Formats: sequence, C-alpha cells, structure tokens
Amino acid sequence: MADTTFGPQGWTPERLGDLKGKTYLITGANGGAGFQAARTLLKKNATVVMLNRSPEKSQAAIAELKEELGQGADVSFIRMDLASLASVRAAAAEILKSVPRIDALMCNAAIAQVPTQKLTVDGFESMLGTNHYGHFLLAGLIFERIEATKGRIVVVSSLGYNMGIKTIQFDDINWDKNYHQNKTYSQSKLAQMMFAYELQNKLAAAGKMDVQVYVCHPGSSKTSLIKTSGGRLTRFAWWLMTLSPMVQSAEKGSWPEVMCATMDGLEQRALYGPTGRLEAVGPVGKGTLNPHAYDNAVMERLWSVSENAVGFKWTL
Ligand SMILES: NC(=O)c1ccc[n+]([C@@H]2O[C@H](COP(=O)([O-])OP(=O)(O)OC[C@H]3O[C@@H](n4cnc5c(N)ncnc54)[C@H](OP(=O)(O)O)[C@@H]3O)[C@@H](O)[C@H]2O)c1
Repeated sequence: MADTTFGPQGWTPERLGDLKGKTYLITGANGGAGFQAARTLLKKNATVVMLNRSPEKSQAAIAELKEELGQGADVSFIRMDLASLASVRAAAAEILKSVPRIDALMCNAAIAQVPTQKLTVDGFESMLGTNHYGHFLLAGLIFERIEATKGRIVVVSSLGYNMGIKTIQFDDINWDKNYHQNKTYSQSKLAQMMFAYELQNKLAAAGKMDVQVYVCHPGSSKTSLIKTSGGRLTRFAWWLMTLSPMVQSAEKGSWPEVMCATMDGLEQRALYGPTGRLEAVGPVGKGTLNPHAYDNAVMERLWSVSENAVGFKWTL
C-alpha cells in the first residue's frame, strides 16, 4: 500500500528548513542524483563536500552550482576514487583533517551494468568494489566524525536488490564463473543495503543511538549511470526507456536521499524512494522492503568478509 506519510505529493524539498551550519558529504556528486542532491542542499544554505573521482568534472560541477546559486555557495570537493582502497583512505584522512562536522554521509556514487567482469586495482569485481567495499571502508574510517556530530549515513541503493540471486554469492563473490552485468550489479546494491541494516544492528547492540542509518533509492531516474558504465545494448534500451513516463528526472531521483539526510522521524529499517508506478517514479515516501535485504546470517557474514577484504575493522 502506498505510503501516505507526506500526503499525496510525497516528500518534496519544500519541507526543508534552513540548513546553515550543517555539512553533507556526498559521494559521486558531480552529476546525476548526487549533483541534484548537492544543489538542493546548497539552496538551503548547507555546506556540501563532494567526494568525486574526477577533479575536472568536480570543478565543472562547482562552477555550475556557483553560477546558479552565487559565489557564496559553500561547496567543495575532495578527490576520492571508490574503486581504490588507497584513494578512499587518503580521502578519509583529508576529511578528518578538514571537515569538522558531518551531518550526513550520503553514499550515492555507483557504477552499474558493467558489461564484462572488470576488477578494481585491489582485485574486487568492479561494482562490488566501487559500490559496496569503497563505501564500507569510507564510512568506517570517518565514523568517529559522524558520531561526534550525531549525524547520519544514507545508503543510496536500487530496486535492483530485488533482482538477481537476492543474496551474496560468497563462494564466488567476484563472479569469476558466472559474471552477469545485471545480477552482479544487483548483488552490489544488495550488499550496500546489508551494510546499512547490519550497521543499524551493531549500533543498537553497542547502545550507540546517536547515529542513524537510512536506505533509499532514486527509482528510475534520468542520470548518467548507464551511459557511464553500461554496454551498448543496455545504453540503447535505457535511452528508449527514458522517453517513457517510467523514468523521472535526476532531480526527483535525488529527493529520497535528501529526505533521508535531513528529515526527522523516519524509520531506519525501511527503504525510501518513489511510491508511484512500480515504485520507480512518483511521490517520495516509504516503499516496500523485502526481507532478503536484512537476512541476519547473510549480513553478519558479509560484514566480516568486507572487513577482511578492505583490511579495516569497525570498532563498535
Ligand atoms: N538512475 C537510476 O535510475 C538509478 C536506479 C537505481 C539506483 N540508482 C542509484 O543512484 C545512485 C546515483 O546514481 P546516478 O543514477 O545519479 O548515476 P550517475 O549520474 O552515473 O552518477 C554516479 C556518480 O558516481 C560517481 N562514481 C562512479 N564511480 C565512482 C568511483 N569509482 N569513485 C567515485 N565516484 C564514482 C560518478 O562519477 P563520474 O562522473 O566520474 O563517473 C557520478 O558522479 C547510485 O547509487 C545508483 O546505483 C540509480
């Protein structure tokens, strides 16, 4: 049943108050939903630190935002390539040095539907490495600052978590034997959700109730996601889809993550996103969350596999 918490229009940025003094870290904010999230937060006087892999695209994005919102817009970037653990470590060190508070870390960046198996410099399947391991390490390394701020972690996932094998292929987590662009992407987005829900469990067990963790998705939104990493056929099929009403703007796609980064009174064990047709478009609210996304045994195992993979132990 559709969520009616925010009325028939769902949550919109009109609900935002002044965000002066608050700082939001957004991964992958030079384009797509991340860029639009930055734009909305800046319009409300927030400080935004983008964590992007491309300095050129970051400078262009900052120039565009300042052009629209004025030179006083408080936006900057720290270079970070999620596909490299060394780069994530360097970025985290820079964050701890230069960003005094973190009201929300928005884990937004991703690659999708990579047509053939590629490995990151650390030897991880590229989507698992970028989307899950990169964020897992980043969040762990800067958790102390998020906690000191009583901030949040927002994981941007995908309805793709409902597709594919709906679990983690632990015996071949890199998909060496049966790589499949969609199923492997689905695994990476499910892994991100499991990170969030397991973190909720661990925070509750440790009595650390000051940090909140939310999960959302943008539905089907017209961004660069498929153009950046998808194969030719997928790009063509996606382009056709963007001509239909089944795909919404990148701006609307950013609303769930902005809501989860700012709004009080949300549920943590939930999945927020569009609540219209197929939950791919429409008013933003609480969507359907299927239980395979918070299977305790799988989440616990993934957590320790992830700690070993990235060489970092969370202290909770
Ligand atoms: N669009 C949709 O319909 C849809 C549907 C379901 C879920 N999502 C999710 O929505 C989120 C936002 O994606 P989007 O649709 O806005 O896609 P997008 O336009 O392609 O934006 C993705 C961002 O991630 C960055 N990124 C990719 N690899 C990175 C890396 N190794 N290190 C750091 N940043 C990296 C990209 O940087 P570059 O510009 O350098 O490539 C870009 O800024 C993702 O988590 C995605 O899985 C999107």
